[in-house]
Amino acid sequence: MSMRSITIIANWKMQHSLHESIALVEAIEAGLPQLPEWLSVILCPAFTALPSVHPLLRQCQLGAQDVFWEARGAYTGEIAPPMLTELGCSAVIIGHSERRTHLGETAGMIQQKVYAAIGGGLIPILCVGETQKEREEGRKEQVVTAQVIAACSGLVHIPAELFITYEPVWAIGSGHPVQPEDAEHMHQVILHALREVLPADALERSVRVLYGGSVDRGNVNALLRMPHVSGCLVGTASRRSEDFLAIIDAVIQL
Ligand code: PGA
Repeated sequence: MSMRSITIIANWKMQHSLHESIALVEAIEAGLPQLPEWLSVILCPAFTALPSVHPLLRQCQLGAQDVFWEARGAYTGEIAPPMLTELGCSAVIIGHSERRTHLGETAGMIQQKVYAAIGGGLIPILCVGETQKEREEGRKEQVVTAQVIAACSGLVHIPAELFITYEPVWAIGSGHPVQPEDAEHMHQVILHALREVLPADALERSVRVLYGGSVDRGNVNALLRMPHVSGCLVGTASRRSEDFLAIIDAVIQL
């Protein structure tokens, strides 16, 4: 049994309607065994499902998939941190590569979102990762280090928990996760980068590095056996309750 804290996060992206989200949460909560103390599960449905899903949660926590950096104001279409906590969210995904790619999120925007989430009492789940091209050019360490430093530099208020998720862009939704040793190496690169911007005690106390990108029931444990892989962010394999419950069962056997 693992004594480290492990966090498994489901990222449902824009894949489910309200009714599908409700059915999925009900099936997951009904199928979960009693979770050990060291294992936490966070479900991140679309914004529209958050209020309906929250009362259905028993063992899982609620997360959102994005947040805006101001607490209130004339920002059409945006959602502020207090709006998420009001709905029962405890965490929020920030800087997912799909938002960097399709919505043009910049390093500066992502940094502001990290600050705002922390200020608003949400656990940031900051996503970083290199593209296939950057990897082929031998720049994965450089790219990921720059993303981490850009998002976390200048943090004065260090939260109780801060998740950084290493999500190589080429591994997302591809069926080809990174090799566990490669994830371990990149997680150490991330922790090294954080040492430049966070005090050592805060790093030790608050930060955990998770992996995301084609995680499934067959590969989750090999990834989690790496000493610096503290959990996973799961997309495709979190969309069906059987697949997601199989991941949780596998993790409990670790
Ligand atoms: P995937 O997605 O598990 O389908 O690769 C992960 C993610 O994008 O968070």
